[in-house]
Amino acid sequence: MCGIVGYVGGQCALDVVLAGLRRLEYRGYDSAGVAVLADDGGLAAAKKAGKLANLEKELADRPLPSGPTGIGHTRWATHGGPTDANAHPHLDNAGRVAVVHNGIIENFAELRAELAERGHALASETDTEVVSHLLSESFSSCGDLAEAMRQVCRRLEGAFTLVAVHADEPDVVVGARRNSPLVVGVGDGENFLASDVAAFIAHTREAIELGQDQVVELRRDGVVVTDFDGAPADVRPYHVDWDASAAEKGGYDYFMLKEIAEQPKAVADTLLGRIDETGTLSLDEVRIPAAELREVDKVVVVACGTAYHAGLIAKYAIEHWTRIPCETELASEFRYRDPILDQRTLVIAVSQSGETMDTLMALRHAREQGAKVLAICNTNGSTIPRESDAVLYTHAGPEVAVASTKAFLTQLVACYLVALYLGQVRGTKWGDEVRGVVRELSEIAREVEEVLETMEPVRELARSLADKNTVLFLGRHVGYPVALEGALKLKELAYMHAEGFAAGELKHGPIALIEKDVPVVVVVPSPRGRSVLHDKIVSNIQEIRARGARTIVIAERGDAAVRPYADHLIEIPPTPVLLQPLVATVPLQVFACELATARGNEVDQPRNLAKSVTVE
Ligand code: F6R
Repeated sequence: MCGIVGYVGGQCALDVVLAGLRRLEYRGYDSAGVAVLADDGGLAAAKKAGKLANLEKELADRPLPSGPTGIGHTRWATHGGPTDANAHPHLDNAGRVAVVHNGIIENFAELRAELAERGHALASETDTEVVSHLLSESFSSCGDLAEAMRQVCRRLEGAFTLVAVHADEPDVVVGARRNSPLVVGVGDGENFLASDVAAFIAHTREAIELGQDQVVELRRDGVVVTDFDGAPADVRPYHVDWDASAAEKGGYDYFMLKEIAEQPKAVADTLLGRIDETGTLSLDEVRIPAAELREVDKVVVVACGTAYHAGLIAKYAIEHWTRIPCETELASEFRYRDPILDQRTLVIAVSQSGETMDTLMALRHAREQGAKVLAICNTNGSTIPRESDAVLYTHAGPEVAVASTKAFLTQLVACYLVALYLGQVRGTKWGDEVRGVVRELSEIAREVEEVLETMEPVRELARSLADKNTVLFLGRHVGYPVALEGALKLKELAYMHAEGFAAGELKHGPIALIEKDVPVVVVVPSPRGRSVLHDKIVSNIQEIRARGARTIVIAERGDAAVRPYADHLIEIPPTPVLLQPLVATVPLQVFACELATARGNEVDQPRNLAKSVTVE
């Protein structure tokens, strides 16, 4: 939520900052703004409500001076509507300091009142603006922007990433971090600050992870990191293992289409190197000793949105393969119900971004209660893995489209790996069984590819439903979370009423929603293996069809039993029951993406959303 960029170096700061904002726009697109320090010692800023394109148009009409130091911001509004006045950067009354911010300053009302009493005139409704005024006051007394930032941060409550410049220190950019992300990009004669490495990946792949409650002072030739009291801080440099092309559309109309197409590779990459030559799973990053994993008597998966759906599927795999009770819970609900946790509980936090505040707060709560936390995460060095006892990284590469696709499939793979690993360590799965499932998982990449090659009828079907108001989704067993995920994708992209149900639950109420021609997507389990499950859902399809529903059936290739009841049949390759979500979800992603396009919606940046949700 909100994207931040800072730059100091030998290039035109405005160009670097705008290019960085283009890559961060997925984080929020309610407004955008920049501030640069001009060669003549002045500070110039521009900001505009709406997407970055509005700001770029404004800058084309009224260019800012070029200078080597600058900051920028793309906003997802929290305090104050998406107006020009509330757009960042926020300046002090003298126009000498400019600040951009991601997060929420919880004590802003009190600070605002205090500033007003001292004669400051605040021009916006934001919580951020207090920081520019406080920085201005502190800088007047200490003459050092980094020190001023430390003084101000000690007064702030809440979550904040702040980046600031001051006209009196034109070769310095200062950043601060509490809870929200901020990464340093280390260049040659230039340095960068950003919410996400994507903003500077075209310039450098060397990065430094900033820790909690740290302040960074950035100059052309150096980076100094301290804590909020000014003591030197330990930092962790790392190399980003993907390059700028991974964050480009690469010929696709939308990032989402590219990311859907990248799924076979993302799945394969997430499996890579995780099984040794003896067929044993070796999850090096899972640093929780085997002895402790053997003691675990309960697993709780916490996550939000799409990641939560991956967690719901994980529950089936964990309980089936390890026989340990597993609960999956929405991270935003978790800590408020006083969950029962202790040293024998393993909490698995699933997050693409590694920055989702609800998930972060849930994991902090779990650790405070003595539970061990394992993160499943796609973003190296982000807060959730940093604060966990162990991490299993998914290797989906950067996911830019707001709607999660390839991250979801790789989260599933990681959840299966964790479940198998627990089974291996605890002896509930023998080596040959683990190897067998890993072999089946390895084949899934090719099967996802196969599904992708047969998606034209799904796109056609989606276009034919563009004027519908409601689509329902049904599933049983692991197909139920797939139905929830299909409905979520449709809501967020096509802005349609979409709901997922457990198929068996339909008769307990939701069946009243079925009327003539309502499209109902049904995810059918394999007819092999658990055929009872399959038979039950075939009956459910008949029940809804009898009431006029238009049935869209996702079923295994060759499943003859569903054919008579499917108005539209989407065939997927046969897979083991537990692994079916890896192939069954793909048509639903394509369906939602095509429906959104047919309805004229913005696929990569759906309304009201932001990719990384860093507020609770
Ligand atoms: C939906 C979507 C969101 C995220 C959720 C969690 O397509 O992308 O529901 O899954 O906000 O985000 P992460 O995984 O970054 O914690």
